[in-house]
Amino acid sequence: MKSGTEKIYQYAIQGGNALTGEVEIGGAKNAALAILAAAIMTDETVTIENMPDVRDTNVLLDAMAGIGVMIERPDRHTVKINGSMVRNVNIEHDLIRKIRASYYLIGALLGKYYEAEVPLPGGCNIGSRPIDQHLKGFRAIGANVRIEHGSIIAKAEKLTGAHIYMDVVSVGATINILMASCMAEGKTIIENAAKEPHVVDVANFLNSMGANIKGAGTDVIRIKGVSSLHGATYSVIPDQIEAGTFMFAAAVTGGDILIKNVIPKHLESISAKLMEIGCQVEEYDDSVRVRRNGKLSNTQIKTLPYPGFPTDMQPQAGVALSLSEGVSTITESIFENRFRYVDEIMKMGANIKVEGNTAIITGVEALSGAHITAPDLRAGAALVLAALAADGVSTIDDIRLIERGYEDFDMKIRQLGGIIEKVTDTKAVRKFRMRSRAV
Ligand code: EPZ
Repeated sequence: MKSGTEKIYQYAIQGGNALTGEVEIGGAKNAALAILAAAIMTDETVTIENMPDVRDTNVLLDAMAGIGVMIERPDRHTVKINGSMVRNVNIEHDLIRKIRASYYLIGALLGKYYEAEVPLPGGCNIGSRPIDQHLKGFRAIGANVRIEHGSIIAKAEKLTGAHIYMDVVSVGATINILMASCMAEGKTIIENAAKEPHVVDVANFLNSMGANIKGAGTDVIRIKGVSSLHGATYSVIPDQIEAGTFMFAAAVTGGDILIKNVIPKHLESISAKLMEIGCQVEEYDDSVRVRRNGKLSNTQIKTLPYPGFPTDMQPQAGVALSLSEGVSTITESIFENRFRYVDEIMKMGANIKVEGNTAIITGVEALSGAHITAPDLRAGAALVLAALAADGVSTIDDIRLIERGYEDFDMKIRQLGGIIEKVTDTKAVRKFRMRSRAV
């Protein structure tokens, strides 16, 4: 780098513009990650469409290639996968630690090869992120599971269906047990199962490969083991959280956005809260329009498993309530450390007090631009919304965390009239600030 400009990786944002226009939502990251892993459970080729081109899916694909999975990418959002040449079940450590969804490879490899060795998952530091329910499910169908040298090692002579009662509603464990049990002998029943749209999407994908899964989307999922799975072509559902993030962007910036390529049913809890705080939400077949007229009002939010208000939308709601009239509360019932955006947004003038798993938010007239850091994926996205609404210029560090789950985030925001640039050195930041002063 030239002297005086060190390498940085930030968003520079000039706040104040209402976001207006149309945005296309991509495939759901949290469905795609599991579907990619499940695709290796057949020796035939699987084609996956509407694949999001984000860091997490790309890291998982690199790790899968590392164990011999054949991968073709005819275009940015289509992946062809063939798992017939998988030569070992020991996944490379350095790649896998970067993402939590690596644990889906255990369910897939165990379900197909009766063994798997995968490093303990990494992911966002939003809480302890235990995997006891995953291991409980694997053991229930007959696998011997141990943790050694930082990896999970699962082995089974054979896999036999079982009746499993989940102690906690867990998206990851529900999906992992679906994969591990879909070719087990006999029936598996998962009680107290997670009902998220991406759980249903993975079940539908496995069924398109010949699995026999019923009840996904309810508390009880029944799986009848089949002898093998075959190739398929499948399109990933739209990303509920990317859609919700742009819905809240309209609320936070006082804009008017048509969010396209969504399933409105998946957004009901988000739409309900936006209407409660004074936004207009119009639902169409595969799009929703969100407009804000006048000031936002306060409300109470508690995050819950689907169909409750999603924990992945909690930071975005926190930003909107920071600009709402009156006092609001947010209770985070899923993860224990998901208020990390609060310290950052306080630098912008927000008035939030966190007590245990509840944030008490006193709305302020306006936020002011500041130099802030993305603490994790969804908190980072929420801070972008805050900066877009704030007076003046903000810079946001560690945006790689945001790019784990948002494809072309800055481009989509620019297309809606937001002033945002990805900058990679301090000279670029200075130029951005000078241009903003000229505005
Ligand atoms: C998935 O994480 C998502 N990640 C998360 O999205 C999302 O926040 C979460 O589901 C809840 O919807 C992916 O799909 C890759 P859980 P997951 O198992 O599966 C406890 C994002 O921003 N638990 O449903 O790890 C756990 O501690 C990410 O895209 C156990 O106690 O979440 C938590 O309190 C962040 N034991 C609760 O259950 C277990 O074995 C829900 O976790 C597993 C989970």
